[in-house]
Amino acid sequence: MSDVKFFSGEQVPLEMHKVRMVQRVHLLPIEERAQHIDEAGYNTFLLRNKGIFLDMLTDSGVNAMSENQYASMLQADDSYAGSETYYRLESVLQDMFGMKHFLPAHQGRACEHIIARTCVTPGTTALMNFHFTTTKAHISVMGGDIEEIISDDGLKIQSTLPFKGDIDINKLNEAIKRLGKDKISFVRIEAGTNLVGGQPVSMKNMREVSKICRDAGLKLIFDASLLSDNLYFIKVRDPEFKDVDVKAITREIGSLMDVIYFSARKLGAARGGGILTSDNDMFLQMREMIPLYEGFLTYGGMSVREMEAMAIGLQESLDMDIINQTPIFVKVLCDELLSKGVPVVTPPGGLGCHVDAGSFCSHIKQEQYPAGALAAAMYLASGVRGMERGTLSEQRNPDGSENLANMELLRLAFPKRVFTLSQVKYVADRLAWLYKNRELIGGLEFEEEPRVLRFFFGRLKPIGNWPELLLKQFRKDFGDSL
Ligand code: F0G
Repeated sequence: MSDVKFFSGEQVPLEMHKVRMVQRVHLLPIEERAQHIDEAGYNTFLLRNKGIFLDMLTDSGVNAMSENQYASMLQADDSYAGSETYYRLESVLQDMFGMKHFLPAHQGRACEHIIARTCVTPGTTALMNFHFTTTKAHISVMGGDIEEIISDDGLKIQSTLPFKGDIDINKLNEAIKRLGKDKISFVRIEAGTNLVGGQPVSMKNMREVSKICRDAGLKLIFDASLLSDNLYFIKVRDPEFKDVDVKAITREIGSLMDVIYFSARKLGAARGGGILTSDNDMFLQMREMIPLYEGFLTYGGMSVREMEAMAIGLQESLDMDIINQTPIFVKVLCDELLSKGVPVVTPPGGLGCHVDAGSFCSHIKQEQYPAGALAAAMYLASGVRGMERGTLSEQRNPDGSENLANMELLRLAFPKRVFTLSQVKYVADRLAWLYKNRELIGGLEFEEEPRVLRFFFGRLKPIGNWPELLLKQFRKDFGDSL
C-alpha cells in the first residue's frame, strides 16, 4: 500500500498490487450459519470453510502469493537429498539474517519441538516476552516452565506505547538473578507478539536483551513468525529507522540473536518453517533431530514447491509496499471500530484486529469464555470467522482449575493481501451491531474438552438459548438481508 494523496482529502490506503486470481465466497443466511456453528460445537476452529464468508481465523498458510512465488514453484528441484531448491532457500535466508546455518522444518511448531528438545530440561524456565500456545506446549512437554517478562503496558488493552511487545529489562535482570543461569533454558523474543494483540518489539529492546543474554551466557532465541509486521513498525514508529533499509534492519536483528526460527506459513507467505543459527554446537545438536522428526536435511518435511515459493516470499517480505498492507488494514478496522465505541487493543498491532472481548462481554465470566462466545456470536452475525485468544486457549492448571488469561481477545486476522476495503467495512458494521446487542450474548461451557491444546478441537455448548435470541434480533434489524 502507498500513501497517495487524494484530491478529496479522504485518507484511503491504496493497494500496490492487482488481483489476478480470485476465489468465490458465499455468505449464507443466518439460519444456516446458526446450524453450522452448532454443528461446530461453538468452536470456530471446527467450522467448515463452505459455511464461512470471510475467514479471519488466521493468516497462517492462507496469505495471497505473488505471481513470482507461483512461477518459482515450477523450477522446484525434487530430490530426497541435495535438492537445489534447498540451496536457493538457504542462501536467501543466510543473506537475509546473516546467519551461517539453516535447518528446514515443516512448520513453526516443528521448529519449537526441536529447539525445546535441544534446550529444555525438566525444572528449567524459558524467559520470554510472551508465550505462544505451541511454544509453551512444547516447553511443557519437555518438563520445562515459562515465565513472561513483557513490559507492563504489553498487558494493558489500551496503551499508547509504540512497542508493547518489549521485554521489561528489570524483570529480565531480576529473573536471571532469582533463577540463576543454569535454571534458564533460554530467553525468547517473539516478534509481533501474537497473544497480546500482534504487538511489536523495538530494536532498542532487542539490543538490550541481547547484551544482557551475552553477558550472562544465555541463549537468545527469536521467533520471527510475525517479523514482517514487526519490521513495518520498526520503520514507521522508531525515528532511528525511518530511512534505514528493511533489509539492514533484518540483518541487525540477525546479529543480535543466537537462534532464529519461523513459521513460513506466516513469514514468507508459503507453508513451512525453519531454524537459523551461527552457533555450531547448537546447530549440530538440532541437526540430528531433523531427519528423525521432519525429513532429510534438504527438505525437512516440506514440499520443494513450497520451499521455492518461500524463498521468493521471504525476499518480498523486505518490501514495505508488500508488508504494510496488514498493519494498515488492521489500523483501518480498529479506527472504524473505535469510532463506533467497540473496544479494541490499542495501538493497533499487526496480524489482525484484536477486539477486547473482556469488556465487550463484561457480563460473561472468564470461566464461561467471553472471547469464545464472542467468536461464535460474530460468526453467527456475519459469517466472519475469527479466533478466540483468551482463557479457552489456555491449558488448565495441574489441579484442574481454569488458568484465566491476562486478556480475553477475539482476533480477526488479516491474511496478507486477501481482503478488500469493502469487506473490512462489512466486518466493522456487523461487529458494531453485535456490540449494540452485546447483552444478548451468553457464555459457553465444554461438552468435550481435550487435555492438550483444547481450543483446537474442544466442543462447547451455549449456556442458555442466546444464539436463538441473537438470530431473532438479527432478523428484526436486518429484515431478509444476508
Ligand atoms: N510462533 C508464533 C508467533 C505463531 O504465531 C505461530 C503460529 C507459531 C509460532 C507456530 O507456527 O503454525 O507454523 O506451527 N501461529 C498461527 C496463528 C497458528 O494463527 O497465529 P505453525
